[in-house]
Amino acid sequence: MNPGSNRSCQRFLVGLAVALQLFVGVRAKADDGYRLWLRYDPLPGRMIRTYRPGVTSIVVTGHSATLDAIRRELVNGCSGLLGSPVPIAGDVRQDGALIVGTPESSPLVASLRWNTQLAPLGPEGFRIHSLKLGGHPVIVIASAGEVGALYGAFHFLRLLQTLQPIKRLDVTQKPRLQLRMLDHWDNLDGSVERGYAGKSLWNWSALPGAVDPRLGDYARANASIGINGSLLNNVNANAKILTADYLRKVAAIADVFRPYGVRIFLSARFSAPIELGGLKTADPLNPEVGTWWKQKADEIYQAVPDFGGFVVKANSEGQPGPRTYNRTHVDGANMLAAALAPHNGVVIWRAFVYDMKPGYDRAGAAYENLQPFDGKFAGNVLLQVKNGPIDFQPREPFHPLFGAMPRTQLMPEFQITQEYLGFSNHLVFLAPMWREVLDSDTYAKGPRSTVARVADGSLYAQRLTGIAGVANTGSDRNWTGHHFLQANWYTFGRLAWNPDLPSRQIAGEWIGMTLTHEPKALATIARIMLGSHEALVDYMTPLGLHHIMWGGHHYGPAPWWDTFERADWNPVYYHRADDRGLGFDRTSTGSNTVSQYHPAVRNRFENLATCPEEFLLWFHHVPWDHRMKSGRTMWDELALHYQRGVDWTRSTRKDWNSLAGVIDPERHAAVAKKLAIQERDAIWWRDACLLYFQTFSKLPIPAGVEKPARTLKEYKAKSLVW
Ligand code: GCU
Repeated sequence: MNPGSNRSCQRFLVGLAVALQLFVGVRAKADDGYRLWLRYDPLPGRMIRTYRPGVTSIVVTGHSATLDAIRRELVNGCSGLLGSPVPIAGDVRQDGALIVGTPESSPLVASLRWNTQLAPLGPEGFRIHSLKLGGHPVIVIASAGEVGALYGAFHFLRLLQTLQPIKRLDVTQKPRLQLRMLDHWDNLDGSVERGYAGKSLWNWSALPGAVDPRLGDYARANASIGINGSLLNNVNANAKILTADYLRKVAAIADVFRPYGVRIFLSARFSAPIELGGLKTADPLNPEVGTWWKQKADEIYQAVPDFGGFVVKANSEGQPGPRTYNRTHVDGANMLAAALAPHNGVVIWRAFVYDMKPGYDRAGAAYENLQPFDGKFAGNVLLQVKNGPIDFQPREPFHPLFGAMPRTQLMPEFQITQEYLGFSNHLVFLAPMWREVLDSDTYAKGPRSTVARVADGSLYAQRLTGIAGVANTGSDRNWTGHHFLQANWYTFGRLAWNPDLPSRQIAGEWIGMTLTHEPKALATIARIMLGSHEALVDYMTPLGLHHIMWGGHHYGPAPWWDTFERADWNPVYYHRADDRGLGFDRTSTGSNTVSQYHPAVRNRFENLATCPEEFLLWFHHVPWDHRMKSGRTMWDELALHYQRGVDWTRSTRKDWNSLAGVIDPERHAAVAKKLAIQERDAIWWRDACLLYFQTFSKLPIPAGVEKPARTLKEYKAKSLVW
C-alpha cells in the first residue's frame, strides 16, 4: 500500500467512525427500537469469522442518490455486522469484493453481460451471484435498475443478519406485486386516524423548508422490505392537500423518498373541484370538472414527476363521490383515471362502500355496489378491496369480491394498524392472519384460485397489481408504539414482495434481525408470535363473532351496544344474540350473502356441518346447545375459547419474563409492560362478553373457565382504558 492510499484509507476510516457515531447519535439510545430490523450490531463471533473473508470491500461505482444510498447502507451494514470497517474500493483488488450496480452504473456488472438475465427481472428485481473476477472470488449484486440493486443490497444484508450462508450465492428475485403501498391515514393537523404510535410522521407546518431526517429512515426501512408506495394522507381526505402550497410540501417529501424507490400517492377528495376550484359541482360527467382534474394532475406532476396517483374513498361513510350526482363509481373512477393517464398515474378506487338499507346485510354491500361494474373500469384503475367483507375484524372470511371481478384489477387492502386488535397494546403477529386470507381459495377458476393469485395477477392476468397496508407507524421513537408491532410493518412488506412467504420464515427473519440470534430465545419468541393471532381471536371474537367492540374508539368489548343511529354500526346488529342462540344467519334462510361466494366455498360455509368453526357465528345463527366438533355445546365452547385466550396472555408473560437477560433491558421491560395490559384486556373481553351473552343463553359458565372479576353492570359502565 503506498503512502497516498494509506492516507486516503485513514481518511475513510475517520469518516466511517464519524458516520457510525452519527448513526448511533441520531438514533440515540441503542435499544429504544428506533433502528427497527436494520440494527447492524456485530453478529456472533463465529459468524463474523465465517463471513469476513467473503466481504472485504464494497465496490459501488457511479453516483446518483440511489447508488450513494446503496454504498452508505452496505458500508454501515457490513461494517456494523462484521464488527470492523469494510472499506469502499473502486475496483476488485482482492478476494471478497462485493460489487453492486446496474450495467449502466458499473463497468464490472456490464462486463458480465447479464442483460438477458436481468431484463426479465425488471428494474426492481435483482440477481446475487458468487463468481470469480480477475481470479478473485467476489459477490455481485446486479439489477436492471438502481432501485433493484438497492433491494438486492438489502437482501444481501438480510442474509448476513439472519446468519445465512453466503458462499456460492445464486439468488434471483423480483417482486410478485407491482404496487406495494403503505397507506397513512394521516390528517393535515398531525393526528392519525386509527393511529396508535404518536403523531403523523409528516410535519406539514415545517415543510417544505425543514424536512425531518427521520423521513430518510422511514424510506430506508420501506426499501429494505420492498415497499415502493406511500399514501400520505387520510382516505377521509382534506382537499387542501391538493393546493399549490401543500404540493410544495409533498414534493419535498417525494425528494427524500425517491432515492429509495418510494413513490407518493395522495387521497383525493372527490369534491375538491368545488372546494378548491370554486366550481358548482363535482359531477364526474361535467366537462369543467374533468378539465379541473386534468389541470390539477398536470400541476401535481410538475411538482412530483414520479407521482403514483390518487386513492379515493367515495360515497362511503359520508365522503362525497359520484353517487352524490347520480353517477356511478365507474364514472367517477374513470374520470380521474383520464386525468392521470397522460402521466402514467393510477387511480386506486376503494371498494369499502356500504350504504345502509333497511334489513340489509353490511357484509354483502361492497359486492352489491361494485361487482356490477366488473370490466368497466379504465386500464389505470385498481379496485382496492379490504381483506374481509366487513372491516378489518380480528378474523373475517375473505372478501367475496376477490372471486367475483375477473375483469377488474383488484388490490387487497390490509390493516397493519390495530384498530380492532388492541391498538398498539396487544402483541399480535399478523402474518398468520394475512396468510389465511391470501391462501383462501375463491374457486373463481376452479381449485387453487387463491386470493394471492388474484392479487399477483396470475389468475386473471391483470396488467396492474398491488397491495396496500394501512400503516401502524407514527412519531413514537420505536415507530409502532409496541416493539413487536414493528414485525407487522416488516411482514406486510415481505408478503407484498412475495405473497407465498410462510409466517414462520417471516417471524424467524424478523426476530433474528431485531431481537436475538440465541436459538432457544428465538424459538420461544417465534412460538409466541405464531400463536398470538389465534389467541387474540380467542379472547376477543371467537367462533366467527365480529364487530362487538366499544363504539367510536373501538378498544375493548361492548357487545351490548345498540345506540348508534345506523344499525350497522351497532354490535347487536352483528351478533344477533337471543334466547335461541348466537350469530348472523348469512345463509339462504337469512341474508343469503353467502351466495356471493362460488359454489364450492358457498356450500362449505352454508352447511352448518361443514362450515369451519372459526366462521360459524359469521354465517349461522347457532343454537346455544348446538354440538360442536369437540362434543361440547356451542356455549361451553365459546366460553372455553375466551378462557384459552386469557391463558395465552399468562403463559406468554411467563415466557417473556424468562427472556430477561437475553433481550436488552429497555425493550424487555417495555414489552413486559404491554403484556400486562394485554392480560388485563383479555380478561376484560372474556368476562364482559360471557356475562352479556349469558343473559341470553341462561347457562352456567362451564368448568375450566374462571369466574368473572366484575359484574356486567360494571363492564358496561366504562370502557377499557388504553
Ligand atoms: C374503518 C375505520 C375508519 C376508516 C374506514 C375506512 O371504518 O374505522 O376510521 O375511515 O375504516 O377504511 O375508510
